[in-house]
Amino acid sequence: MNQKNQSNQMWGGRFSSGPDTIMEDINASIHFDCKLYAQDIQGSLVHAAMLAQQGIISKIDHQAIEKGLKIVLQEIEEGSFTFSRKLEDIHMNIEARLAELIGPVAGRLHTARSRNDQVALDFRLWVKEQAKKTAENLKTLISKLLIQAEEHAATLMPGFTHLQTAQPVTFGHHLMAYVEMFGRDLSRMRDVIHRMDEMPLGAAALAGTSFPIDRFMTAKALGFREPTRNSIDSVSDRDFALEFLADAAIAATHLSRLSEEIIIWSTPQFNFICLSDAFSTGSSIMPQKKNPDAAELVRAKTGRINGALVTLLTVMKGLPLAYSKDMQEDKEATFDAAATLELSLIAMTGMISDLIVQAATMEKAAGSGYATATDFADWLVRVAGLPFREAHHITGQVVIAAEYRQCDLAQIPLPELQAIHPAITEDVFKFLSPNESVKNRKSYGGTAPEEVRRQICYWKKRLVKA
Ligand code: ARG
Repeated sequence: MNQKNQSNQMWGGRFSSGPDTIMEDINASIHFDCKLYAQDIQGSLVHAAMLAQQGIISKIDHQAIEKGLKIVLQEIEEGSFTFSRKLEDIHMNIEARLAELIGPVAGRLHTARSRNDQVALDFRLWVKEQAKKTAENLKTLISKLLIQAEEHAATLMPGFTHLQTAQPVTFGHHLMAYVEMFGRDLSRMRDVIHRMDEMPLGAAALAGTSFPIDRFMTAKALGFREPTRNSIDSVSDRDFALEFLADAAIAATHLSRLSEEIIIWSTPQFNFICLSDAFSTGSSIMPQKKNPDAAELVRAKTGRINGALVTLLTVMKGLPLAYSKDMQEDKEATFDAAATLELSLIAMTGMISDLIVQAATMEKAAGSGYATATDFADWLVRVAGLPFREAHHITGQVVIAAEYRQCDLAQIPLPELQAIHPAITEDVFKFLSPNESVKNRKSYGGTAPEEVRRQICYWKKRLVKA
């Protein structure tokens, strides 16, 4: 097993032999952290420029390093770069190629820097970029939900609690609930971008450096608000990724709930919506089937995103300060969660844009299941002056009467209602249609179409600045 081979060319000074092949297998990260090549080169370019500005390396050396790094970037982008597992990770692969291209002067690039602050920078740049992308994807989804909500601000549907018919609402109002959720997801993404906007490079291994570096210059050049304040924290901290994953998991949970509703609504039993062919599949045996596969997959992919959060929380939970190699395990799960969330958001945006609403079925269902029983009770309070608890009890008896007759509340003859309570008059019938019920729920944030339209207006304005 123990194959003697050459020690690592980047750090092998004190080693007489190279690693066991299994060591190489467990140690190498190049097969996934090659994703960070652009961030790594960007960080190196800025670091080299700062070293030159501060007189830590010469202008000539800086020029050579800059030229070499740009060639490496080009090689990677063209696909002509050979990644080597022996060189472990993206940082050493790039530096080794730089040395091939420009000679020993490449070794000056790592002055006043360690892979610990280098990887902290690269990963932070990547997560920050991805959080921005997620925010944009959330904005697009919200804008499509707003279009459907506006079109269906007055389309009646049954509102549910316990998945039992509760009270009539409008479909637009229901969709606006998701706008609120995804709106919070969006603001969480903005928050995490703001908090992670501190630049760790210059922390070096953990203690800072004796070279006269300018971390304010590198922070600015790399698009950060400011440098981090504590070098130990800079190389130990992964909460920027944890927070991104936590926010991603919450957004995925919202996507999953919406998926679940889309799946229920599109069953023939509900028939509230029709999914477009573009987001459904057929069955190989049952010709009549149209399956909501995209929604099911979005629902399931939530598991991967939640899993990534648990993975990183678990990696970090027992680590002493500062850097430990455990932290190399921060990347794969994060990369996967980010890509999965991106795909899920785009798929959901497509499903929402294409959704066909079966307004007549929804409206019919909105009136079933005694959905306006609360309106009956409210009438007893408002018009007959009864305390709500008593009104609730009386309405319960009205529901029993309707069940007995197998009819709607509005179809019970008045004398029968008056036998339950003498204060009931003809007037109550005006309030028992789903349309009337919804129209009356004008409280701020309620389901009345005018109120839903006000919420839509608010979000249209807010989204421009979000
Ligand atoms: N590949 C490593 C990672 O992703 C880079 C940092 C290595 N630092 C070290 N001291 N071994 O974490």
